[in-house]
Amino acid sequence: MPFPQTRMRRLRATRQLRGLVRETRLSPQDLVYPMFVAHGVDRREPIDAMPGIDHLSIAHAVTEAGEAKALGIPAVLLFGLPAAKDEEGSGAWDDEGIVQLATQAIKEAHPDVLVITDLCLCEYTSHGHCGVVREDGSVDNDATLELLARAATSQARAGADVIAPSDMMDGRVGFIRAALDDDGHTDTPILAYSAKFASAFYGPFREAAGSAPAFGDRRSYQMDPANGDEALREARLDVEEGADIVMVKPALPYLDLIRRIKDETKIPLAAYNVSGEYAMVKAAAAAGQLDERVAVLEILTGIRRAGADFVITYHAKDAARWLQ
Ligand code: PBG
Repeated sequence: MPFPQTRMRRLRATRQLRGLVRETRLSPQDLVYPMFVAHGVDRREPIDAMPGIDHLSIAHAVTEAGEAKALGIPAVLLFGLPAAKDEEGSGAWDDEGIVQLATQAIKEAHPDVLVITDLCLCEYTSHGHCGVVREDGSVDNDATLELLARAATSQARAGADVIAPSDMMDGRVGFIRAALDDDGHTDTPILAYSAKFASAFYGPFREAAGSAPAFGDRRSYQMDPANGDEALREARLDVEEGADIVMVKPALPYLDLIRRIKDETKIPLAAYNVSGEYAMVKAAAAAGQLDERVAVLEILTGIRRAGADFVITYHAKDAARWLQ
């Protein structure tokens, strides 16, 4: 008898068997849908850099949240475009601010939609930086923490289910945790943007949020794409400070870190498939160079396989439809 030949094909030959031995599952339940809510007239306005994604009035955001829920997507992530921006970014902690009002409206119409609020100042500051800017143009880490804490408690009071600080100031998770606890929101979890890289892939988002820095860049507070060990340190610090979920962002150039951080921390992990990653797929699909459906499902499955428990993605609604 010759030694039996090992044939990998045997497991792949029939569809049902492929399904049984599949290691990674992707379902609408694994997705979070980000939305841009804007002050002003009741309409939706396309965002040029992100085909298929619009600026939404509160009423439209409520509709979209309901649609996402109907498709099996459990959560939305809210970004706000305030009526006016100022030096401090005061729109971020205005109890009548855009994210606060949108959160209330969504929770009222769809109590079972989980509302995650992005917590940062860059959408609210006239200079577009994520924190308080000093005379010399640098960002004042500790002064920023006070403002973030105000914004976090305001979002929680509005009914946000999860607070997601995306600013990358040092010590913000612990500071925000203490502020939430003091304000009575001991049960509101923090989803920390822990490993957030200074990335070219946020370009379309900055157009959408009007948050491109007016001067300088974000390299003093966002991470160097070359540094993996540092991402692990960032994640560990956030966990020590009380983060309930950690995030890696963007997703595709950092799949190795999704895996490393997941293995190391064993904490629930989110990956953010960001605006530039979305825009690339949309552009290639529009040019007939990619099959959008197959490409998107492959990307999202890959991010899950790397170790993400869930994926924040602008593809969420399309993907959920394809997965039905
Ligand atoms: C705010 C923030 C950004 C993104 C999420 N929160 C932009 C940035 O850091 O410039 C980017 C999300 C995306 O590109 O989809 N700090």
